[in-house]
Amino acid sequence: MKICCIGAGYVGGPTMAMIALKAPSIEVRVVDMNAARIAAWNSDTLPIYEPGLDEVVKERRGKNLHFSTDVAGSIKVADIIFVAVNTPTKTYGIGAGRAADLRFIESVARTIAEHANGPKIIVEKSTIPVKTAETIKEILRANSSGHTFEVLSNPEFLAEGTAIKDLLAPDRVLIGGEHTPGGEAALQALVDVYAHWVPRERIITTNLWSSELSKLVANAFLAQRISSINSISALCEATGADVDEVANAIGKDSRIGPKFLKASVGFGGSCFQKDILNLVYLCEHFRLPEVAAYWEWVVKMNDWQKHRFAERIVASLFNTVADKRIAVYGFAFKKDTNDTRESPAIAVCRDLLAEQARVTVYDPKVPEREIRAEILGKDGTAAGHGAETRLTVAASPYDAAVDAHAIAVLTEWDEFKTLDYAKIFARMCQPASVFDGRNILDCAKLQTLGFRTHAVGK
Ligand code: NAD
Ligand code: UGA
Repeated sequence: MKICCIGAGYVGGPTMAMIALKAPSIEVRVVDMNAARIAAWNSDTLPIYEPGLDEVVKERRGKNLHFSTDVAGSIKVADIIFVAVNTPTKTYGIGAGRAADLRFIESVARTIAEHANGPKIIVEKSTIPVKTAETIKEILRANSSGHTFEVLSNPEFLAEGTAIKDLLAPDRVLIGGEHTPGGEAALQALVDVYAHWVPRERIITTNLWSSELSKLVANAFLAQRISSINSISALCEATGADVDEVANAIGKDSRIGPKFLKASVGFGGSCFQKDILNLVYLCEHFRLPEVAAYWEWVVKMNDWQKHRFAERIVASLFNTVADKRIAVYGFAFKKDTNDTRESPAIAVCRDLLAEQARVTVYDPKVPEREIRAEILGKDGTAAGHGAETRLTVAASPYDAAVDAHAIAVLTEWDEFKTLDYAKIFARMCQPASVFDGRNILDCAKLQTLGFRTHAVGK
């Protein structure tokens, strides 16, 4: 059995490394058109920071796990081809700002049709709008020289920062396929791959459309919980209730459950917003405006929460942050990843820079060029207001705090819990404030050191 995966990103790399680890008899090739990324996968510094990933890759690389730019050659030898390319929100034309941009999916389908030299099983690993398999099948049918293709949907549910844990013991593996003899045989072949380590009862099989749609719905439900608790965080701040106490109280109800109820500065990451907007677009397309509006509010609430956090900083610093230094602790969209896509830190930093603040960011895993590119844009002017001269990046949280009026904690990195805050307080302008956007710090203790503290929903 030979597997090829097109797309060596946050999903393609870790998922294929896990298959290679758990199914040593299967040869796995991960390919990408981005040569620099492939070179990094073949080096000591992988392109993705993910706890446990280095060990898995080092264990199998060069044995049954290979990274290469040879897309055509890998398609030829593969029995199963996973498609794990990016599916960002469209930024142009019809559906701009909402619909998924399927240009990478379509281009991969055409490449597969061009180079396939026998029957292949194509697996949609990317998150895509429901009915995409139909598009893929049509392109394959119209462009190949008579080979049979079976298309399966196998969405990925891993979360960044816990990818290896999630892949080792997934809550479920979802595989959708067609109820035809060919479709059922393909489905069984993929079930057999996962069955190397995933208990059979955790492998769910459905029709194609249920599988495609379930991925969007899972992300929408997860994000909805965060927007729900974040909406309540505003009410807590107005009333004196404590959002962590409320979350704990409601989460004890087994029908609600305790997970994904952590109030925050907002959710980030490459997928929640993108996938909900995609769902909204689909609902509009199928003439379901009420359903579309219902889900769109999850994203609107998240945007509001990010801006609300920045406004609270300004309001608490005597309504002006002009020329004041704000130390930003954490830039990744969550801890244990170097991914900054849609990180709430981008919006908060831009709002503060627009208020003429001087912003100094520290993040343990995100390099300076990435922080600057995310906030200032490719040409350095996206934040406006001369922001580029007031944005700096520090090498440590202690350096970032020098002459700062406030600290804003925007990623829940563990190291922020154990810093020497007395030392930090001594370096700051007085009165010194902490705005905890992740509710990870002991505010009572910080207050005894002299800090003014503000946490989300408190
Ligand atoms: P990514 O941007 O990290 O990786 C995608 C890769 O595909 C890139 O390296 C790109 O160069 C490559 N690529 C694009 N077109 C190509 C082509 N024609 N030929 C060869 N390579 C090509 O994206 P990602 O975060 O891995 O996400 C991939 C998909 O998985 C998306 O649909 C996303 O929604 C979904 N997903 C992501 C996560 C996550 O945690 N990041 C989790 C579940 C699902
Ligand atoms: C999410 C889903 O959890 C995965 O199942 C899914 O596969 C993935 O999206 C995807 O499709 O890309 P991810 O975005 O990597 O995974 O990380 P999460 O742990 O879901 O966190 C997303 C954001 O929500 C982060 O900014 C996090 O800080 C925030 N969050 C999470 C909260 O603010 N509160 C919470 O209670 C949980």
